[in-house]
Amino acid sequence: MNKKNMIIAIDGYSSCGKSTVAKALAKRLNYIYIDSGAMYRAVTLYLIENHLDQDLQKIKEALPNIHIEFHVENDKSIVLLNNKDVTEQIREMEVSEQVSTVSAIKEVRKAMVEQQQRMGKNKDIVMDGRDIGTTVFPNAQVKIFMTADPKVRAVRRFKELQKLGKKTTLEEVLENLAHRDFQDTTRKESPLIRSNDAVILDNTNLNHREQLDVVANEVEKAITKNE
Ligand code: DC
Repeated sequence: MNKKNMIIAIDGYSSCGKSTVAKALAKRLNYIYIDSGAMYRAVTLYLIENHLDQDLQKIKEALPNIHIEFHVENDKSIVLLNNKDVTEQIREMEVSEQVSTVSAIKEVRKAMVEQQQRMGKNKDIVMDGRDIGTTVFPNAQVKIFMTADPKVRAVRRFKELQKLGKKTTLEEVLENLAHRDFQDTTRKESPLIRSNDAVILDNTNLNHREQLDVVANEVEKAITKNE
């Protein structure tokens, strides 16, 4: 019998460490890692740069011109927007402030979900986001729902931004996270909700190794089942 390709869906709140776990897991298993949030961020950056962020009709027309790709260079995942490296730019505060609004637009979601499904076709992948286990790959063999105390998340994100030399305050980061959590969980299109069959991973008090162990254990069970 042919082995089905493996899909590992990691969903959860902003700044929960989804990408850290997802990247480490993909590396360990030699699977492809896809950061779906980076795709929404890249669309947001395109709309900001082209001054389209207020105009729904123009946004719809622009979607076919937005091409997003991921490359791995020296172990680092690079995000290309229309062939330009935007890996750093999409993490800027201006993008973070607008990405929830952009990712709530039905047409934007439809276009991204289609691309994500194509990226996962006939491949073993780890994809992180908000709706991977519910909408993009409802049949994923492993579904993880990550959460952590909001203050702990804000401190982690603040430290990351500080390391990157970004000027911001902890209050600003906390506010941005609360705003994104609210928008992500209450939007009409594919809101962030836990799929009934997703395993909850609350990492408030877990280190990277412990988180990876929880997820790897789920993957092992699924691989055995898949064989
Ligand atoms: O994971 P992130 O913080 O980089 O994601 C940025 C935004 O994109 C987040 O506020 C919600 C949105 N997003 C989404 O709506 N669906 C996804 N699958 C991934 C991200």
